[in-house]
Amino acid sequence: MAKGGPGLAERVAAAQRVVVLTGAGVSAESGVPTFRGTGGLWRQYRAEDLATPEAFGRDPRLVWEWYDWRRQLIARCAPNAAHFAIVHLERQVPEFLLVTQNVDGLHRRAGSVKMVELHGNLWRARCSREGTIQDLPETPLAEIPPRCACGWLLRPDVVWFGEALPPPALERALLAASACDLFLVVGTSAVVHPAASLPVVAKEHGAPVIEVNLEPTPLTALAHESHHGKAGDLLPRLLGFSLAPDPQPPTPA
Ligand code: OAD
Repeated sequence: MAKGGPGLAERVAAAQRVVVLTGAGVSAESGVPTFRGTGGLWRQYRAEDLATPEAFGRDPRLVWEWYDWRRQLIARCAPNAAHFAIVHLERQVPEFLLVTQNVDGLHRRAGSVKMVELHGNLWRARCSREGTIQDLPETPLAEIPPRCACGWLLRPDVVWFGEALPPPALERALLAASACDLFLVVGTSAVVHPAASLPVVAKEHGAPVIEVNLEPTPLTALAHESHHGKAGDLLPRLLGFSLAPDPQPPTPA
């Protein structure tokens, strides 16, 4: 429900610095299961049972099988109108930053460039000894669990529960949140910190916070406007953009 005042398109037109925070809900209409909704389970496991260093230490094969399943699922998905609306927004405002909690790579495939992937990206692996990064193929992995050339296990290049966010990514997000004049939150349950603190920081620094989500969240009470519905329908409409996909070809994930 909107609380009055200018519409989102007017706020964007007047803004110099815009930050957008996204969560799994932005990819839901692409067919990617959210974490806390139905369809978030794989076999009998919840994300919280698998996305931890302890789970990886106990059974790296199981954790890699889950990520391999997710990559195969996401490889068949395409960015939706919400992803494309965010790309249009990036090109419209002078200073822009997309902060995503999503690891699916769909924002990048849609064409987003000014972006921080706070929780990493499941299309990359990282050597558990050297920290070197490598891209993963769209095809199923030949070897599970995969190993680095140095012989040590590779791990998904994502942030797991109980792990700290990469300091440069978090600092960039915090700096942008504290300096923006408009903060948009799309499709996140806003229960995982520090990502969920970013809109609070923006509000403390005087920026209006606008939320788009299927349902109310812990952020709804602090948001200047909260719009309930599907991001792929609502976001282009609120921003005054056409639903046509971005004219530029998507870059590979
Ligand atoms: P969640 O699954 O917790 O929340 C998804 C949110 O999207 C919910 O609030 C839904 O109401 C909303 N939603 C679903 N479909 C939508 C749609 N079509 N349009 C708009 N909103 C929609 O996912 P996240 O908030 O992203 O962390 O979860 C945050 C983090 O917790 C994830 O990055 C992950 C997870 O566990 C790590 O893996 C570290």
